[in-house]
Amino acid sequence: MIDIKGEAQELFPYTRDLRRDFHRHPELGFQEVRTAGIVARELTEMGLEVSTGIGKTGVVATLEGARSGPVLLVRFDMDALPIQEETGAEYASQTPGVMHACGHDGHTAIGLTVAKILDAHKDDLGGTVKLVFQPAEEGLGGAEAMVADGVLQQPKPERSLSLHLWNDKPSGWIGITPGPVMSASDRFSVKITGRGGHGAAPHLSIDPIVAGAQVISALQNIVSRNVDPLESAVVTATSMVGGEAFNVIPESVELRGTIRTFKPEIRDMVLERFTEIATGVSSAMGCQAEVELKSITPAVLNDPVLSEQVYEVAKSVFPQAEISTVERTMGSEDMAFMMADIPGCYFFIGSADHERGLDAGHHHPKFDFNEDALTTGAALMASVVLEFLK
Ligand code: NI
Repeated sequence: MIDIKGEAQELFPYTRDLRRDFHRHPELGFQEVRTAGIVARELTEMGLEVSTGIGKTGVVATLEGARSGPVLLVRFDMDALPIQEETGAEYASQTPGVMHACGHDGHTAIGLTVAKILDAHKDDLGGTVKLVFQPAEEGLGGAEAMVADGVLQQPKPERSLSLHLWNDKPSGWIGITPGPVMSASDRFSVKITGRGGHGAAPHLSIDPIVAGAQVISALQNIVSRNVDPLESAVVTATSMVGGEAFNVIPESVELRGTIRTFKPEIRDMVLERFTEIATGVSSAMGCQAEVELKSITPAVLNDPVLSEQVYEVAKSVFPQAEISTVERTMGSEDMAFMMADIPGCYFFIGSADHERGLDAGHHHPKFDFNEDALTTGAALMASVVLEFLK
């Protein structure tokens, strides 16, 4: 019997060193030149067929099994965030204002480890593994860019897999949830225009600040009054900009924020109510509203059958682990663009370590994780691939 967990453990120094190197040298979306270079070099050294420049800085490697069979896409993201690191770690970012604060350094290291394990087991594989190293996951459109460059063609994958380190849960925990797992994300901006004037003479102006406040209050009713209490949605205004002087009523204000939903029918309804409320309330206040809605990502929907199979593999490889089948988040993830066409499973690998204080949330300047999670992620991903292509 193959001991994939043992092999991943043996490769831990390789995985950890790569992760720390990526962590020291983080690169923002579509600028992952150094990272992609290392990824391509490692994959080429393994003797894999490597393509670079897919979706600007993305890398794709094809691993052919000894026997023919289905094509499986396995995706890892590589980009960092515009955050000044405050971990004080020995391997902290050496680039001011840029940090791997989401764990994508770990994902890239896991991906290369998975490639190494699978490469050593080519004889056990009936099919093709498409290893995808994606740029610009953090809201910049990396997945879409790779899809546009044909990552889902030639050969077309039948199934897709991806993972995320998860600091909401401790290292050792695994989350595999069938159905909706990460939400659809839409961005809104609303420009409310009234009539500016003297702050001491409100009756001579039409105050867009008061209108904006009413709009924000009224928007709270969508989730509490329109969405089925057993369903999920978020409407959050994150920015309200207007006016500069203490004694001037401005001409206009601009609201911005995000809408998160799981189900397409709920999303349609929320977006419709959003527009009605923003324009209707503004108009009732004598103002005019221009509403702009932009879809950022669809929801990540895990294929139920595939998720069940991943769960069975996880149970056999990690019999002691706590495996959740209900973990979901209103966060979004552009893997959704790949999974929209290719049924897939996106799972979470618990990575927090409360005792060592490695438990700051994702996107926090003190974000860091227990590196044992790298081994868990690599072992599980490699085992799932071997099981699917056995
Ligand atoms: Ni992330």
